[in-house]
Amino acid sequence: MSAAPGTVPGVSRSSTQQSSAADLLVVANRLPVDQVVEADGSTSWRPSPGGLVSALAPVMRRNQGAWIGWPGNAGEEMEPFEEDGLTLVPVALSEEEVAEFYEGFSNDTLWPLYHDLAAKPSFHREWWDSYVRVNQRFADAAAANAAEGATVWVQDYQLQLVPAMLRELRPDLRIGFYLHIPFPPAELFSQLPWRRQILEGLLGADLVGFQLSGAAQNFVRLVRQRVGHKTHRDTVYLPDGRVVRARAFPISIDTEGFEELAASEEVQARAAEIRRDLGNPRTLFLGIDRLDYTKGIHARLRAFSELIADGHLDVEDAVFVQVATPSRERVDQYRQLRDDIDQLVGRVNGDLGRIGRPAISYLHSSFPREEMAALYRAADVMVVTPFRDGMNLVAKEYVACRLDGDGALVLSEFAGAADELRQAYLVNPYDINGMKATMLEASRAQPKEVARRMRAMRKTVSEHDVSHWASTFLTSLAGDPESHTKQTHPAEES
Ligand code: F6P
Repeated sequence: MSAAPGTVPGVSRSSTQQSSAADLLVVANRLPVDQVVEADGSTSWRPSPGGLVSALAPVMRRNQGAWIGWPGNAGEEMEPFEEDGLTLVPVALSEEEVAEFYEGFSNDTLWPLYHDLAAKPSFHREWWDSYVRVNQRFADAAAANAAEGATVWVQDYQLQLVPAMLRELRPDLRIGFYLHIPFPPAELFSQLPWRRQILEGLLGADLVGFQLSGAAQNFVRLVRQRVGHKTHRDTVYLPDGRVVRARAFPISIDTEGFEELAASEEVQARAAEIRRDLGNPRTLFLGIDRLDYTKGIHARLRAFSELIADGHLDVEDAVFVQVATPSRERVDQYRQLRDDIDQLVGRVNGDLGRIGRPAISYLHSSFPREEMAALYRAADVMVVTPFRDGMNLVAKEYVACRLDGDGALVLSEFAGAADELRQAYLVNPYDINGMKATMLEASRAQPKEVARRMRAMRKTVSEHDVSHWASTFLTSLAGDPESHTKQTHPAEES
């Protein structure tokens, strides 16, 4: 089934709906804008950080949808409002809920557990209680704003209970769920005291989407083991006859948007200026990440600094620009990480830098898309080395911005993006010597070889952009007629 131009498959405006009820709803932890409180107490909105927003906002705008989410700070109830072509429905969180639901259960329990225990997860019963309460609030908001038979697309690990809660309130809805981060193997997931509730929450959806097929398989296996439902390949058979499908839909970027940005004169001029300001190095290495312990920033900078200390690279002609976007700063593990990186950068530059030539140019800040595109254009080698990452959109953005077909990508084999960007220089981020060798190889590769790899990656990123991702998911959610009728498990068919 193919969508009419500019619309999403399976979504049509119903003639009976009230003006406030939407036919397509996204339910995500964050609204696509953050509320900013100015010094004088007035408030304004600015686009919120992160891949999810850039991924979904264009699709929603084209389909007059509603977006339900948290405005980004603790606060009062707010009425729905229109912003930049989207209907936004704010869900308020109190100070305590920000601490327990967002910083606590979402980002200090689920986040490290789902990322291969990159940090030790904390299990607190009061955080879980808050997670249940806040998930119910999101489900209530979705139920109140959805038209009869609407499609509701719930996003990510913060809202895994919403599908079942919403189905309970509104059995008429078609419900999809998409997990942006990895879904761990049974051996890790089973540590979670509330594992069964999470699985049952997800099973409220008709379609559960993951970045990779391995994650979908982990989920189906866990449902069989821990909930006891019958399963066959990507399908779960519930006792009431409903079926749930679990499949991979690798997320992507607004490729055309990045290409246009990278082609603009302003961005090209800014890229040249960045290189000039850095002393026109022969090799500009670049890292751009949220400041998160899963991203492998420390190990990557250590690898680079050792290449300088060993004499393989020289600060006269090589520099590493590392952008670290501030993130989840009240969570202890993140504070600790910031201190560790500050200390490492200070030591490396103190030991190895020369006047006007730091080895590492470190920016703890977030930048607009234009500046990111200029950095992507300026870099010779992009280094993306997470210990575990659902996808990693930075890797794809870099590829999209390399309009001349040059530039090397060093990419962790544990980033979801490595499944598609096979022609990157793949590394194991736990292997510092391996990373050193590969970073050096990428920086010294023949232009022909670099171009061969980049050409193949650019084809992948242009063929599989974010619209493709969204329409494939929504087509699958809408287009499986058998997933909406009662079914019998194959083994029980006569
Ligand atoms: O990658 C997972 C994710 O939650 C994204 O959806 C989001 O854009 C990013 O991390 C930032 O996280 P937070 O909303 O906690 O700032």
